[in-house]
Amino acid sequence: MTTLAIIGGTGLTRMDGLTVTRREMVKTPYGAPSCPIVFGELGGREVAFMARHGVTHRIPPHRVNYCANIWALNSVGIEQIIAVGAVGGIHKDCTVGSIVIPHQIIDYTSARENTFFDGGDDPVEHIDFSYPYNEQLRQALIDGAKSSPGITLVDSGVYGVTQGPRLETAAEIVRMANDGCTIVGMTGMPEAALAAELGIAYACCGVVVNAAAGIDNKPIDTTALPAAIQAAMKNACKVLNTTLRD
Ligand code: HPA
Repeated sequence: MTTLAIIGGTGLTRMDGLTVTRREMVKTPYGAPSCPIVFGELGGREVAFMARHGVTHRIPPHRVNYCANIWALNSVGIEQIIAVGAVGGIHKDCTVGSIVIPHQIIDYTSARENTFFDGGDDPVEHIDFSYPYNEQLRQALIDGAKSSPGITLVDSGVYGVTQGPRLETAAEIVRMANDGCTIVGMTGMPEAALAAELGIAYACCGVVVNAAAGIDNKPIDTTALPAAIQAAMKNACKVLNTTLRD
């Protein structure tokens, strides 16, 4: 039984090293997930893989059907999720190409479907979300990154999740830094909270693909992003392969 899933983000629509055994498109009460779930083996372990933005990367962060994706993974028996996400670096240690394993989240998103506990006939439920990431999974990723040659690791961080799809203003990043955010991305929420609502252990592998707005005192060169994303995602693949092999 496959109980671990990887959700791939921008630049990670397929997993290097994954031997595919089957694909399954799951129907959910929330509509269609981003893509079929791919089942296979990675580093000798059975894993499932889902491309958050779809196989052809056409679904922007604010339009991802997070409820359908997490519901689908839960319905096939997934108990642990490693979520990969491209992020901007706010803290000086979060340099381009580094891998950040955040320990906290601040949610700045708006108007996203963000809960399975939406009232109606069901009783009101509030989950504890004090520590949004599963510590065991986080440690596995940290150990995996430490044993991957050439990886710059930041073993904790606060992931500020913005609505997008535009990047932030420099002032927004100053505000986020003052709030304590060390990285910024657009997909960390509601994904983490939905996983928590269904009792799925969840951790994030953040891949820094640019310095956040204003950090370098110049505009973000968006034309350079695809190449930076491709290079940085190779690091994420290395870490995942090592993490699952360990
Ligand atoms: N901001 C928000 N999301 C991102 C960024 C960023 O700078 N880089 C990659 N995803």
